[in-house]
Amino acid sequence: MSERTVKLDYAFCLEQIIGVPGLGLEHLRSLAPRVAELHRLLQEQRQDGRLGFMGLPEQDLTPILEQAARLSSIAKDLVVLGIGGSALGATAVDMALRGFLRHAAPAEPGRMRLFVADNSDPRFFGSLLDQLDLSRTAFNVVSKSGSTAETVAQFLVVRELLERALGPEEALRRLLFTTDPKEGNLRAIAQQEPVAVLSVPPSVGGRFSVLSAVGLLPLACAGHDVWALLEGAAAMAADCRSGQLMKNPAYLLAVLAVESARRGRNVLVMMPYATDLFGLAQWFAQLWAESLGKARSLEGEEVHLGQTPVAAVGATDQHSQLQLYMEGPPDKLIMFLTLGNYGRDQEIPPLYQDIPSIAYLGGRSMAELIHAEARATAAALASQGRPSLGLRLPAIDAFALGQVIYLLELATVMAGALLNINPLDQPGVELSKQLTYGLMGRPGYAEQAQRITELETGPEFIL
Ligand code: PA5
Repeated sequence: MSERTVKLDYAFCLEQIIGVPGLGLEHLRSLAPRVAELHRLLQEQRQDGRLGFMGLPEQDLTPILEQAARLSSIAKDLVVLGIGGSALGATAVDMALRGFLRHAAPAEPGRMRLFVADNSDPRFFGSLLDQLDLSRTAFNVVSKSGSTAETVAQFLVVRELLERALGPEEALRRLLFTTDPKEGNLRAIAQQEPVAVLSVPPSVGGRFSVLSAVGLLPLACAGHDVWALLEGAAAMAADCRSGQLMKNPAYLLAVLAVESARRGRNVLVMMPYATDLFGLAQWFAQLWAESLGKARSLEGEEVHLGQTPVAAVGATDQHSQLQLYMEGPPDKLIMFLTLGNYGRDQEIPPLYQDIPSIAYLGGRSMAELIHAEARATAAALASQGRPSLGLRLPAIDAFALGQVIYLLELATVMAGALLNINPLDQPGVELSKQLTYGLMGRPGYAEQAQRITELETGPEFIL
């Protein structure tokens, strides 16, 4: 098996390096027995089938690849209809591998263009539909529950459009559902109509599902190396098998974040020094926020825990958010993602040599500049006692992304264990879904609609 190449650099989190605001190495080491205990607990949960994402690196890709081949043979564009965990992973990986500007690039032979429609915003969805040629488009409806209003609404719109444009038989051929193996509306529809379906393992939660059919089907259609993604995840999993804190990068990352939060670092900024990794930062924001932002402990006590994740991009946000990170409240831990190699470079021509404040750039390269900026920003923060950690990727490729994804998923689960909350549920999200059902007239949710009406009744305070 290939070796892990993504590394966690935690020097700038440590008291020894950045002074008192940092975490003491001895203190970190003292947490090892607790982490070992929680490791055993996670192992048990895995055996009980609760942490399905951990088994994804070993999955059989055949059904996914068959469906990807089928869709690629009948269409040129693929639209994912899904939201949250059913959407962000595919966007993150596609953006990383094909580039932030992927939709402006010309179509490549043998690769479907991938669009992810993750909002019920009619302006966004309408303009996406306007740009598609239905005769060359397929739709992957992704909903584990099969009942998420945004996704179901999009599906209904698309279902009718397809039927009108292509006829009933062809309309069904253009669809693929990704959903629970037994339950939910999409599964029920697929039992009555000949629509192809892929299953999301019940033990894999939405935000942990990028390496299941949820993410892999669209990524395979877009021509990405899904084997390398899984190989990367497997390489990271192999190095995260140990229950020893100082030997397990995912556990160490979790401890650094949770211990920082206990010292008031309530914000965790993910700042990749690569525009193409912005989607990954947004994917991580959902993973961290929805998993760890919880009102109650495992024993039901009111705790209101969770670090607020922020997605930023270096060097862009050096000219935007960095001022706050440097001088604002000392409540942030910054996680930089840096690249050994950008895969391409741009020489900076030695023009205007008579202007010293320009001339120094001549003869250097853009990669040198962004490397220097990443180092300078981390050092500037450290010099002010502001902690950061670094995930070092040799390059942006599927193997490295698979490693990062697995690392962050496992770190999230360990962070949940350290915080003594359930990282796998999302009662807050469920509540807003139910209130929406109430407002939209879904049978059985009248009481929820009433609750909103009561809240909204009364004097208005509108300026
Ligand atoms: O992580 C989660 O569980 C959520 O973000 C879900 O993915 C999201 O709410 C969509 O749910 P579903 O796939 O059931 O439509």
